[in-house]
Amino acid sequence: MLFRTTHAFAALMLISSAFALALPSPEPEAKPVEIYVEGENFIEFAQIQCENARHGLKPICPHLNKTADNGCIRYVKGFDVTGVVTEVDLTFPEINDACDCIQACLNRPTTCAAWVYKFSTSESVLSGHRTCTLYSQFNLPAEVVIEIDVTNPNNSNINAQELVANGNNPQNGATVAQAFMDVNLNSTADKDAVSGAVWQLSTGVAIC
Ligand SMILES: *[C@@H]1O[C@H](CO)[C@@H](O)[C@H](O)[C@H]1NC(C)=O
Ligand SMILES: *[C@@H]1O[C@H](CO)[C@@H](O)[C@H](O)[C@H]1NC(C)=O
Ligand SMILES: *[C@@H]1O[C@H](CO)[C@@H](O)[C@H](O)[C@H]1NC(C)=O
Repeated sequence: MLFRTTHAFAALMLISSAFALALPSPEPEAKPVEIYVEGENFIEFAQIQCENARHGLKPICPHLNKTADNGCIRYVKGFDVTGVVTEVDLTFPEINDACDCIQACLNRPTTCAAWVYKFSTSESVLSGHRTCTLYSQFNLPAEVVIEIDVTNPNNSNINAQELVANGNNPQNGATVAQAFMDVNLNSTADKDAVSGAVWQLSTGVAIC
């Protein structure tokens, strides 16, 4: 906390003295300052003039190919927000970290909108490598259930075979599932699991 305040204050001093030299008369515009603290999930936005702070998620994976935000801010740690349709299963060594997983989703711009990097099976726990699973949609809220008519030829790229084999049709709504790291995947929370969104905007850029 002290660290952040010190930096916010330093930035404030720096910017106000720069304006004091460059602009003699009008008041400088209030500009938000993003303060990153290494190792923390949150960044603090300090509003220089009115000093009202708000919190946002720290961007991850800034090096990813073609994202509008120079990284991803639409993610959740420790939980799996993904759905069931258009499942693609990827594993180590192709996927070595969450950023590889997001890149795999970005590389499938017409079929991927959701990704999760977590221990998905006992085998993955024993191997020590989280898996990457991609989907075209998300978890449904608790009281919504959708069953896909997998015999309807109008369906496209839903990976019906895996949808059915995994018992995911119908897709039952539920609260967003926590990710675990014990071999039974039901007791030790995995706070380093991560899942999120990739949205391909009509303007040709991806946000995540
Ligand atoms: C970036 O991603 C696009 C697909 O979205 C792909 O065609 C292109 O080859 C990628 N570029 C690099 C440098 O990976
Ligand atoms: C497929 O979609 C079209 C409309 O796009 C509809 O007219 C047709 O009945 C659908 N086919 C089936 C088998 O539901
Ligand atoms: C976790 O799963 C194992 C094996 O199915 C079961 O024996 C155990 O009771 C479960 N633990 C919890 C906390 O649900």
